[in-house]
Amino acid sequence: MKPSFCLFIMPTSLFSLLLLCNLIAFSNSFSSSTQPRCNDDDRSYLLQFKEGFVIDNSIYGCDPSAPSKIESWKLFHGESSDCCSWDGVECDEETNHVISLDLSSSCIFGSIKSNSGLFHLLQLRRLNLAYNDFNFSQIPEQVGHLLRLTHLNLSSSRFSGEIPDEISNLSSLISLDLSDNNDLRLHKLSLRGLVQNLTHLKALHLSSVDILSRVPDLLANFSALQSLQLDQCELQGEFPTGIFQLPELKMLDISGNSDLKASLPDFQKGSPLKSMSLSEVKFRSQSFFDWKS
Ligand SMILES: *[C@@H]1O[C@H](CO)[C@@H](O)[C@H](O)[C@H]1NC(C)=O
Ligand SMILES: *[C@@H]1O[C@H](CO)[C@@H](O)[C@H](O)[C@H]1NC(C)=O
Ligand SMILES: *[C@@H]1O[C@H](CO)[C@@H](O)[C@H](O)[C@H]1NC(C)=O
Ligand SMILES: *[C@@H]1O[C@H](CO)[C@@H](O)[C@H](O)[C@H]1NC(C)=O
Ligand SMILES: *[C@@H]1O[C@H](CO)[C@@H](O)[C@H](O)[C@H]1NC(C)=O
Repeated sequence: MKPSFCLFIMPTSLFSLLLLCNLIAFSNSFSSSTQPRCNDDDRSYLLQFKEGFVIDNSIYGCDPSAPSKIESWKLFHGESSDCCSWDGVECDEETNHVISLDLSSSCIFGSIKSNSGLFHLLQLRRLNLAYNDFNFSQIPEQVGHLLRLTHLNLSSSRFSGEIPDEISNLSSLISLDLSDNNDLRLHKLSLRGLVQNLTHLKALHLSSVDILSRVPDLLANFSALQSLQLDQCELQGEFPTGIFQLPELKMLDISGNSDLKASLPDFQKGSPLKSMSLSEVKFRSQSFFDWKS
């Protein structure tokens, strides 16, 4: 980071500043080659998380021509290494704690144990495990311990069973994607129970989760919502009309819910909606067709 800061000031600075910059850059590269930035505990939590899986190049979403990101996670000759430079890992600049894990399409096969090191990474803000194969296991409830999460993406990764209640506690979430898993259900908690405290959501993607309940009116109060994907969810009852008028909503997909009823509002010019999928939804009025023509 510092060297680029130097590049920025160089054009306006004197020769002495340039020298200073070189010194900073030098000491920076020197320290990073001798001392791993990575927090020691986080490094062992990551390695313990990795141990629970096998790498299988034949699973859906895996790119066999690219090495799995998680394969770069190792110690060199038993020495500690910098986990902040491992593929898919991002650390905080100041605390050196792991704050982001992107292991999407990493050819991971297996299930996440309830005592996995993952759930000790309490500074984690982004977690993406999409396009792996978690072998029809349940989403571990311990994911609800990661209270700093702003982004949680477990889409297309072969989770099944009930979505754990604990996800409803992740009130910092901006983006939640649990779509396109196998037989993932939201029967116990209901959609209302899941989202009532997730009021900062910008993206809520639950495509093909078996929800089997109403869309709660309170979603029409989620003023930050930009993308809502609830297609193939067995939704019931009446879709809250206010959702169509959310001030930031660009993308709405509620298609494939044949028991869902909806009526469209009068769309104002300047509505941010860019894409709407409504097939199979039952409409009360003709306004949709008025609007289209
Ligand atoms: C996948 O699930 C099956 C059935 O529960 C189990 O026998 C098998 O050991 C699991 N494989 C892995 C890698 O977890
Ligand atoms: C949510 O968090 C609160 C406070 O930390 C805790 O008491 C409660 O048990 C949690 N609920 C779930 C479903 O995890
Ligand atoms: C909702 O989130 C707030 C923090 O944003 C927290 O204090 C409160 O306990 C949460 N309520 C429930 C029911 O989880
Ligand atoms: C979840 O991750 C997948 C794979 O990286 C990506 O295609 C998808 O857009 C992500 N979902 C959200 C809501 O960002
Ligand atoms: C939505 O917000 C308004 C204004 O804050 C409030 O009066 C109303 O009860 C909320 N609706 C729901 C369903 O929570």
